Amino acid sequence: MTELRTMILDRIRDVPDYPKPGVLFKDITPLLADPVAMAAVVDELAGLHQVDKIVGIEARGFILAAPVAYRAGAGFVPVRKKGKLPAATLEESYDLEYGSAVIEVHRDAFAPGDRVLVVDDVLATGGTAKATVELVRRAGADVVGIAVLMELAFLKGRERLQGERLHSLVTV
Ligand code: PRP
Repeated sequence: MTELRTMILDRIRDVPDYPKPGVLFKDITPLLADPVAMAAVVDELAGLHQVDKIVGIEARGFILAAPVAYRAGAGFVPVRKKGKLPAATLEESYDLEYGSAVIEVHRDAFAPGDRVLVVDDVLATGGTAKATVELVRRAGADVVGIAVLMELAFLKGRERLQGERLHSLVTV
């Protein structure tokens, strides 16, 4: 196992029965609190692709995406849950375990053909990442990759993102 993977895995805390009984929550706050580990994660993500914009997915995705954008010398664009962005938006809905959710991006967030890396903390079912990719493409940008800190392999999100360049720093 590489040093970076070990550093990440050592700083992700399992919290049983959150947010509901039977779920083992992967808590990244110990990693966020460690400046050396965080710097290593941000450097790794920032070096993946040459891009114009980093897209962060609300809310935990923002925590990683903003420093990655700074480090990469790229702009930061938020993809937010419906109703949070002030100007004209495009929206995309996707299915959740129960019901559905809607995410939005500002219509003018990208210049035509902007190269974009989508960054989030966790890939689970892949529904959020898939909807984000669709949304960013509809907004006129070129999605060159998706990067997550952690991929939950048993939820098979990778299968929903076939054809995309998906990078996960750790797989659990
Ligand atoms: C979590 C996580 C990803 C998404 C992954 O966000 O941060 O964005 O779920 O799940 P999926 O692959 O099954 O779509 P959540 O909706 O819990 O929001 P939060 O970051 O605001 O807590």
